[in-house]
Amino acid sequence: MKIQEYYSSSLKITTLLIITIFVLATSTSSKSTKCPFSHVFHLGDGFSDTGNSVRVLASGPSLPPSRLPYGSTFPGTPTGRWSDGLVNSDYVARALGLPNIRSYLPVNNSRDNDGVILSVARSPVLDLEFFESRGVDFPPFAVPLKVQLQWIQSYLDSVCSNSTDCIAEILKDSVVLIGYEDGNDIGYPLSQGKSIREVETYIPFITNATIEGARELIKLGATRVVITGSNPLGCFPYILTALGNSSSFLDYDLSGCLRNINNLIISRNNDLNLATTRLSLEFPRATILFADIYAPVRTIISTTALSGTNPLKACCGIGGKYNFDPNRFCASPGVPVCANPNRSVSWDGLHLTQETQVRITRIIAPIFLPLLKCKLI
Ligand SMILES: *[C@@H]1O[C@H](CO)[C@@H](O)[C@H](O)[C@H]1NC(C)=O
Ligand SMILES: *[C@@H]1O[C@H](CO)[C@@H](O)[C@H](O)[C@H]1NC(C)=O
Ligand SMILES: *[C@@H]1O[C@H](CO)[C@@H](O)[C@H](O)[C@H]1NC(C)=O
Ligand SMILES: *[C@@H]1O[C@H](CO)[C@@H](O)[C@H](O)[C@H]1NC(C)=O
Repeated sequence: MKIQEYYSSSLKITTLLIITIFVLATSTSSKSTKCPFSHVFHLGDGFSDTGNSVRVLASGPSLPPSRLPYGSTFPGTPTGRWSDGLVNSDYVARALGLPNIRSYLPVNNSRDNDGVILSVARSPVLDLEFFESRGVDFPPFAVPLKVQLQWIQSYLDSVCSNSTDCIAEILKDSVVLIGYEDGNDIGYPLSQGKSIREVETYIPFITNATIEGARELIKLGATRVVITGSNPLGCFPYILTALGNSSSFLDYDLSGCLRNINNLIISRNNDLNLATTRLSLEFPRATILFADIYAPVRTIISTTALSGTNPLKACCGIGGKYNFDPNRFCASPGVPVCANPNRSVSWDGLHLTQETQVRITRIIAPIFLPLLKCKLI
C-alpha cells in the first residue's frame, strides 16, 4: 500500500483532505471504533512518548517535560509528554478505540491495558554507537529501536511467563506501530553540522534497521505493523535555526522551509515506503502498511500560514527568527509561551502542539482504520 502515492499531486491531496475531514466530521460524533484486535504497541520517539523519557534515567525528572508549561493545555499539569497536551500515540489509541494505554516505564507487567507505549523522546532508529563513531551526540536518555524491541520482548516474556504461544497470541491480537516521526537519525546529525550528503548515506541503514525490527516482531507473531515516515524537518524551528546561518535565500521554499532538508526527508520516506512494500510481499498474510506523515504536516503548515500565524515559530521558546534557542529551551526560567498553543504548529521547536496532533489524526485515521479493518459501531 503506497499511501505516499495519494499525495503525488496537490489536487489529489486537497480532494482527499476534504473527503476525509468530511467523513470524520460526520462519523465521530457518537460512534466508537471496533477493531479486530485489542492491543496497541508503539515504538518511537517524542511524538509518541507518553512519559518514558522522564523515567529512563535518575535525572529524568529534571527534563523539560516534567515542568510546566508542558501539559498546560491538557491535563493542566506535566505528564512527561513533550507537548502542551497529548501526543500522537494517545490519539492513535483513541482512534482505534483502545484508549487505556500506558507507558512501559515504570515497568509494570500486567495485561490489564489496551496497549504499551515503548517510545522515548529524542530516540533514533539506529544504535547510539553508529552515531558515536561518526561524532554525533545524542542525549543519554535516547533509547534506540533495538533497545525498545528488547523492552517489548521483556514485557511479553513477563506477562506470558516466557511462553512463546502466549507471546504470539498477544502479538496476533495487536497492531504494532513503528513511528520514528521525529527523524532524529537525520535531525541530530544535521543540527550538529553534518552535511546533507553525509546524512544521505545513513538512509539505507535507517531503513534496514526499521524493517529488521518489523520482521523480528512478525516472526514472533505480529500480523499488523504500521511503519511511519518522518516529518518535514526542513520546516522545524530547531533545524531552521541551526542551519539558518549557512543557508541563502535560494535554499528556502515558498513556505520558508529548507528545501534540501525536506528533499532528504522525502527520499528517506520513499526508501522506507519501498522497503515496507517489499516486506509485505515477504509476509503476504500480514497487514504491513506505510503511513506518510510528511504530506499531512505540510498541509497543516500551509493552512496555519493562511490563518495568519507563522507556522515556523515555536510556541514555547525564545530568540531568533523561529523563537528557538537550544540553550534556553521551553520550560527553562524566563522562557515565554505563546498565548494560544492551539494556533501553533510547533510546540517547543522540536515537537508539535496537541492541536497539530489532533489535526494529523483527523487526516490519517480515516485512511488507516479501513485498512486495519476497524469499524465504526
Ligand atoms: C500497575 O498496573 C496496575 C493495573 O493496571 C495499576 O492499577 C497500577 O496503578 C500500576 N502501577 C504503576 C506504578 O503504574
Ligand atoms: C540493507 O538490506 C539489504 C537487503 O537485506 C542489503 O542488501 C543491504 O546491503 C543492506 N544495507 C545496509 C546499509 O545495511
Ligand atoms: C545564526 O547565528 C546566530 C549567532 O550565532 C544565532 O543567534 C542565530 O540564531 C543563528 N540562526 C539564524 C537562523 O539566524
Ligand atoms: C485548545 O484546544 C483544547 C481542545 O483541544 C481546549 O480544551 C483548550 O481550551 C484550547 N485552548 C485555548 C487557549 O483556546
